[in-house]
Amino acid sequence: MATQTSTGSLRLGSIAPDFEAETTTGSIKFHEFIGDKWVILFSHPEDFTPVCTTELGAFAKLESEFTKRGVKLIGLSANTIESHGLWIKDIDEVSGCNLKFPIIGDKERKIAHAYDMIDYQDTTNVDSKGIAFTIRSVFIIDPKKTIRLIMSYPASTGRNAAEVLRVVDSLQTGDKHRITTPINWVPGDDVIVHPSVTNDEAKTLFPDFRIVKPYLRFTPLPKEKTTAA
Ligand code: BEZ
Repeated sequence: MATQTSTGSLRLGSIAPDFEAETTTGSIKFHEFIGDKWVILFSHPEDFTPVCTTELGAFAKLESEFTKRGVKLIGLSANTIESHGLWIKDIDEVSGCNLKFPIIGDKERKIAHAYDMIDYQDTTNVDSKGIAFTIRSVFIIDPKKTIRLIMSYPASTGRNAAEVLRVVDSLQTGDKHRITTPINWVPGDDVIVHPSVTNDEAKTLFPDFRIVKPYLRFTPLPKEKTTAA
């Protein structure tokens, strides 16, 4: 049975609540599971439902890209791990994938409550007993266990796994360089010099930066230095 050890209103910058849970790949303590990796914790309303099936397949197909970036995936819904296990076979068949990441069985919705994943507003998103399902939440959590992104999607709308990966790229790039990323940015595009960087600093950090407005300065990312063999 899942046990929760932390509650409260979660914001960007909050420490992700720790918990113990049963998953399709065994029992976990969440902070131990995170270890020194990034983690995408994402919930779906229910097993054996159409949109969720397509979403889990899409995340499974992109798992190797997340792994390359040091990111672990973990799903959650208020179903049992036995149900998840049966459903994974369908997901693999429908999406032509091999879903390996764990899915938490949160039948009692303890973790869902701790992470505010319960749908209180959408009266159509309830199970046969009228109990609210989990919504489509995504949490990006960094190795310090800090929540870096929270997304909430309605039951009717499947997410975009590539967008979650894009945000990971933006966050990891911003942690490494003093930059932010503009609308629709993808890796390889120019980035924005962080407002805290003066023009004098920018000349050293980003020799090719250009000023569009005093508050909007674009730059290519500095080339990675390779160590000589
Ligand atoms: C779906 O995954 O298709 C779904 C799940 C719960 C409510 C509505 C749609």
